[in-house]
Amino acid sequence: MSQHSQINSNNIDSLPNLKISNLSINNFRNYKDIKLSINNSPVIIFGENGSGKTNLLEAISFLAPGRGIRSINYNDVTHDDNDLGWSVNANICDIKKNLKFVIGTGVPPKTKKNKSGRILKVDKEFKPITYLSELLSILWITPQMDGIFLGETSKRRRFFDRLIFNNVSSHIKELNIYEKALRERAKILKDRINNEKWLDLVEQTLVQSGVKISKNRVDCISFLNQKLSSVSDPFPVSKIFLEGTVESWLQSMTPSEAEIKFLEEVKKCRSIDSITGRSKLGPHRSDFKVLHIKKNMFAEKCSTGEQKALLISLIIGQSKLLIDKDGNPPILLLDDIIAHLDHFHLECLFSEFFDINSQLWITATDPEILKSMIGNFHLIKVADSELHIV
Ligand SMILES: Nc1ncnc2c1ncn2[C@@H]1O[C@H](COP(=O)(O)OP(=O)(O)OP(=O)(O)O)[C@@H](O)[C@H]1O
Ligand SMILES: [Mg+2]
Repeated sequence: MSQHSQINSNNIDSLPNLKISNLSINNFRNYKDIKLSINNSPVIIFGENGSGKTNLLEAISFLAPGRGIRSINYNDVTHDDNDLGWSVNANICDIKKNLKFVIGTGVPPKTKKNKSGRILKVDKEFKPITYLSELLSILWITPQMDGIFLGETSKRRRFFDRLIFNNVSSHIKELNIYEKALRERAKILKDRINNEKWLDLVEQTLVQSGVKISKNRVDCISFLNQKLSSVSDPFPVSKIFLEGTVESWLQSMTPSEAEIKFLEEVKKCRSIDSITGRSKLGPHRSDFKVLHIKKNMFAEKCSTGEQKALLISLIIGQSKLLIDKDGNPPILLLDDIIAHLDHFHLECLFSEFFDINSQLWITATDPEILKSMIGNFHLIKVADSELHIV
C-alpha cells in the first residue's frame, strides 16, 4: 500500500522523470495566446466554472496522438471558431534519457489549398502524429470517463485502444489503416462497384491490419492484467476480459492462421454487409469487460464510486506498464478529480503517482483541499482566459 507520509512533492524521489517545462497555446478554445513555465512540482489549475481549466488540459492532451480528452474533431477547438488554426507547443525534458525536445502540434490556418488535419513538428522537423507515442505518454482521468463501463462500446474500445497504443506505437497506425479499409469496403459493397480485384485488395488490407490490432490487444491486455493483479488498496484488483471474434481465434491460432480464417469469413459476409452497410465481423466490434475481482462482479454492475476506483486502477496499472516499457511514467491529467473522490482516495491516488514520478496536472474550482494535500505545488489561476501564477 502507498505510504501517505511520502505524499510530498518536495521529496527528491518525486521529481517527474518526464515533464513539460514550458507550454505555449495559441488560438485554442478560450485562449488567444498563453505561455507557461513549469517547475518540478505538480500543477494545480483553479478557476471558476467555464474559466478554461479543462481547455488547458485538453490542449496538453494533444501532445499525445488522437483527438484529445474530449475526443473532438481537430477543427472544432479553434478560438471563436475562426479559420486561423491553433497550436500547442511544449518543451519536454526527459530526465532519465537526458533528452530535451520541443513538440509543436496543431492545425494550420485554413486556406483553399490547405484543409489538412493536425500536424506535428518535433524540434522543428515534420513527423507523423503517431510519432508522439514514441516520445511520451499522457493519461487522463476526466468526468466524461465516468460512464466508460456503461456507455457505448465504441467509447470503451477507444479508451482501451488508447491504452494499447501507449504501449505499442504502431497500434494507432493499424487502427487508421483498418478504419480506412472498413470505409472503403463498405463503399464498394454499397455502391455495388463491380471490381473484384479492388475488393479483394481492400479486404486483404482489412484482414492484415485487423489481425495486428487484435494481436496487440490480446498481448497488451495480458500484460496489463498482470499489473492490475497487484494494484494496492483502496483501488481494487481487477481483470480485463476481451470479447471479440478475431481476438478469440488468436487464443488458439497463430496470426497467419487467424488472417486466413478472417479473410474467409469477411468474404462470406459480403452479401449481408452490402445490405446492412456495415461489416458484421472484426475488431471494430470487440468489447472490453472489467471484472472487480474482490466482488466478483463486472464493472457495469458496480456502484459509481466503485467504477471510479476501477478506472483509477486501470490508469495505475497502465502507468506501471509504461514504466516497464521505457522507464518513463506518463504525464497525468486529472480534471475535476476532487469532485468525485473523497480525501482518502485522493491522497492514495496522488501518492501512487508521486511514487512513480509522474508529472501531475490537476484542475479544481477550489484548490484548498489540494493545497492541504500536496506539499509543494505550482498554483495557477485561470481568469478572463489568462493564466495567473499565484
Ligand atoms: N472554440 C472556442 N472558442 C472560444 N471559447 C470556447 C471555445 N470552445 C469552448 N470555449 C469556452 O471555453 C469555456 C469552457 O472552458 P472549460 O470547459 O475549460 O471550463 P472549466 O474551467 O473547465 O469549467 P468547469 O469548472 O465548469 O469544468 C466555455 O466558456 C466556452 O464558451
Ligand atoms: Mg472543466
